[in-house]
Amino acid sequence: MGIIGQPIDRVDGRLKVTGRAKYAAEFAVPGVVHAVLVQSTIGAGSITGFDLSEAQSTPGVLAIITPQNAPKLTMKGGTQQTVRAPLLQDMAIYYNGQHVAVVVADTLERASDAAARVKVRYQAAEPVTSMDAVLDQAYMPKNFRNGERPADSQRGNPDLSFSAGAANVDATYITPMEHHNPMEPHATIAQWDADRLTVWTATQGISGTQTTLASMFGLDPSNVRVICPYVGGGFGCKGSTWPPVTLAAMAAKVVGKPVKLVLTRAQMYTSNGYRPRTIQKLRFAADDQGHLVSMRHDGFSQMSQAPLGEFAEPVGLATEMLYDCPNVAVTHRLVATNAGLPTYMRAPGLASGNFALESAIDELAVASRMDPLEFRLRNYAETDEHLDKPYASKALRACYQQGAELFGWSRRSHEPRSMRDGNMLTGWGMATSTYPTHRLPASARVRLGADGTALVQVGTQDIGTGTYTVMSQVAADTLGMDVRRIQFELGDSAYPHAPVSGGSMTVASVGPAVLAACQAMRDKLFDMALDDQRLSWSGTDRASLQLRGEAVIGPKGRIPVAELLSHQRQDFVETSSNVKPGEEEKRYAMHAFGAQFIEVRVDPDLGEIRVSRIVAAFDGGRILNAKTAHSQLIGGIVFGLGMALLEETHVDGETGRVVNANVAEYLLPVNADVPDITAILVKNDELVSNPLGAKGIGELPMVGVAAAVANAVYHATGVRVRKLPIRIEDLLV
Ligand code: MOS
Repeated sequence: MGIIGQPIDRVDGRLKVTGRAKYAAEFAVPGVVHAVLVQSTIGAGSITGFDLSEAQSTPGVLAIITPQNAPKLTMKGGTQQTVRAPLLQDMAIYYNGQHVAVVVADTLERASDAAARVKVRYQAAEPVTSMDAVLDQAYMPKNFRNGERPADSQRGNPDLSFSAGAANVDATYITPMEHHNPMEPHATIAQWDADRLTVWTATQGISGTQTTLASMFGLDPSNVRVICPYVGGGFGCKGSTWPPVTLAAMAAKVVGKPVKLVLTRAQMYTSNGYRPRTIQKLRFAADDQGHLVSMRHDGFSQMSQAPLGEFAEPVGLATEMLYDCPNVAVTHRLVATNAGLPTYMRAPGLASGNFALESAIDELAVASRMDPLEFRLRNYAETDEHLDKPYASKALRACYQQGAELFGWSRRSHEPRSMRDGNMLTGWGMATSTYPTHRLPASARVRLGADGTALVQVGTQDIGTGTYTVMSQVAADTLGMDVRRIQFELGDSAYPHAPVSGGSMTVASVGPAVLAACQAMRDKLFDMALDDQRLSWSGTDRASLQLRGEAVIGPKGRIPVAELLSHQRQDFVETSSNVKPGEEEKRYAMHAFGAQFIEVRVDPDLGEIRVSRIVAAFDGGRILNAKTAHSQLIGGIVFGLGMALLEETHVDGETGRVVNANVAEYLLPVNADVPDITAILVKNDELVSNPLGAKGIGELPMVGVAAAVANAVYHATGVRVRKLPIRIEDLLV
């Protein structure tokens, strides 16, 4: 093992910083015309008609597609990434900003102009804009976690043990609606060639997009090609195939030309999901020794109206497994509002749920008069008590110890408002982080040429995380080659199938596929060497052979791959793989872990909160590239800071319209908000979780940040804030 783990630069870094990496909207497709979406201006009700005369008479207009003339979609099949509405198939309005028409014109400006002139007549109804007003109508998800488990779980009797506890917490925590805000907006170019559809689109899952479009238009998936070599961020909003992708393909079919549809920044708040608002009611109790005896976590998350689909934020899943506790109950309920369909957003469930869980644990530590870290160590779970399985590995204790040491946690004073720096109140807070380790089947293809280079192809994505780079490293190590001789290609559904880049599972899924295809290459070259009549290698012990890039090395010397190929009159050797997770999923619980330690400074007069220091330690399993991994950790922590202090989508209570649909008023952390961050990875070389031992670190590092900030704010001020984002006004009490 040579280059795996090394902090090499991104292999696509130069292309990106020089602007030569081509993103979906940048492909030059001859004859392309432009589509613009028209959106509902009411929050509920139905369309009664359109007045298109003015729009149709503006220059350059090629088509105006409305529910009254839109082609009917087949909508058979699909995947969990398929979003089936609103697709101009009926006149119902479910939320403000819903797409109600698509205007196609020869230029973007003309399409935008005509779109502004489309007049829609509505029968308006009163939209439900607040969860709180309809909380009593909460319902159980019909298809929680895509049916892989029930929405509720219970072990022991948490209600009985709650009353018997020596220390209790009974509190409600609230997290807001948030939007993903990737730099690159959703963008699609769709082109039909008879019954074959090609789309260039910004997506975290080309295979899901292929399946979705095939199902929408009644095509065989082999007639749909999806291309996406680069993604300018996704964070979950490009995980599903949202209506604008389908509408672009529909528009291209209607006008008989390739169509480009790029969302505006404002449309990014109404077209591709959001992190739903949650209301979480927690009742925790500990005995007089600080042992958890009861945990109940009742989660309510915001949903759209049912015809748009279903998404339940799984806020209680970490509560089931993070601590040692005999009595635990978790419930998940949905609250329908007139909003778009919510979706996965970085660390779905875990991020929102952890704010409640790790705030309540802090509150219980305070009630038990214990240090928050000591409280967590006392309740350390050696096994997954929900699944009743051992962990493939769990280095959380090392995360606690190394993080606390680097932070200087032992110097923390216990009482709130007891640490000051000049006039500033200083607070130290911590939280545990976890994210499940997922893996799905994946496949890969390798072609080794006589020129000593290898082409590796997988139909996966690089969403900015480093897939190109780390997969090149896996191939280079396995083939015994310099990484510069590996050409790794992804982002084309013509390549071997891979899953969506979501759930932090790309390395764990695609890595083993690349490894297996390269191992098959090694075996094939050894066979060629041993079978080669012109060599006298037959009878040589296979185990004594090595592949060193462009040559096979054996006890009898070195035979260049080019020579093996020429003996067989071939230009290249090709191998492939198709790998699935094995028995390990049945036998072990698999999670990544971490510990966040955060210092805040609060101005006692103004309530201003500054995060001044962060130390975080993570168990991400085996790390394939120390540099891209560190970048992920820092990025995730900054994402967590946004959740803690800044991010919130505001919806007007009367109209149901998003009122801060721009990155000026939707607050995100900027450099001035981000302090010195120390993020380390504890050693864990376990290879049980998957053949590369990678646990996934895309989402893990943001989990726990919000709770650690809230816990630090409590320590600084004595004020417990149970609602995100934490604002100045929360402290001026
Ligand atoms: Mo992630 S929210 O699983 O793209």
